[in-house]
Amino acid sequence: MLELRDLSLNYGSIPAVRGLTVRVGPGEVVALIGANGAGKTSTLKAVLGLENAKGSVVLDGVALDKLPTPARVLAGISLSPEGRHVFPQMSVEENLLLGLTARTRPQAGSLTQEMYALFPRLYERASQKAGSLSGGEQQMLAIARALMSSPKLLMLDEPTLGLAPIIVSQLRVIIGTLKARGTSVLLAEQNAEMALACTDRAYVLENGKVAKEGLSRELSQDPAVRAAYLGLGEGDEE
Ligand SMILES: Nc1ncnc2c1ncn2[C@@H]1O[C@H](COP(=O)(O)OP(=O)(O)OP(=O)(O)O)[C@@H](O)[C@H]1O
Ligand SMILES: [Mg+2]
Repeated sequence: MLELRDLSLNYGSIPAVRGLTVRVGPGEVVALIGANGAGKTSTLKAVLGLENAKGSVVLDGVALDKLPTPARVLAGISLSPEGRHVFPQMSVEENLLLGLTARTRPQAGSLTQEMYALFPRLYERASQKAGSLSGGEQQMLAIARALMSSPKLLMLDEPTLGLAPIIVSQLRVIIGTLKARGTSVLLAEQNAEMALACTDRAYVLENGKVAKEGLSRELSQDPAVRAAYLGLGEGDEE
């Protein structure tokens, strides 16, 4: 459904993404894992046209390369950004409504209710300022806001960063629910253990390139991946 073909992105003379080819199928949940600076965020920004990249971003067979970001969102791609970026002085509900697009605005009421069903904590805190929420709740809000555009593909950038294990397991459940309703997910994570546990396939990024790709359950057993990203040697217990 989403295809990144030979995608490259430089910041001035600094190469951040170097010839990536990545695919996400319909209803598939795919991880981009890699260390600090591997190029995960840059890849997601290039998909949305937030940075100027070379190569091609193709959604359902249509090249998006000439389209500006709003048109890419209308085409069905949405991002929950690294660092969440909720608007602290606005209420939870106002933050949610910011995620609407021209296409989804007529369904504002039903989409809001859908998000409250998916994230009951947000319902309880609908009229509170987003800045008063815990980190985990702000992360849920950032995801719910991204879902207000009814994307075919939801991109999540480091959703687990700084969150307690209990919230991380809630996020895994949410990703499973999205998959069950047919939304594709592209998950960028430094937390390889979490990412490999809740995705179908994964790409390991190193210095802006795909170093490895495969089924997540197979990569989580790969000795090199275990040593580099899971902090486990051969024979170690998980
Ligand atoms: N706005 C920018 N200007 C210049 N260089 C940048 C910019 N953003 C990222 N970089 C560089 O591009 C490379 C890839 O960064 P990127 O943020 O995509 O990595 P990442 O995999 O998302 O890392 P992290 O896990 O820390 O979020 C790094 O070398 C980084 O320093
Ligand atoms: Mg990043």
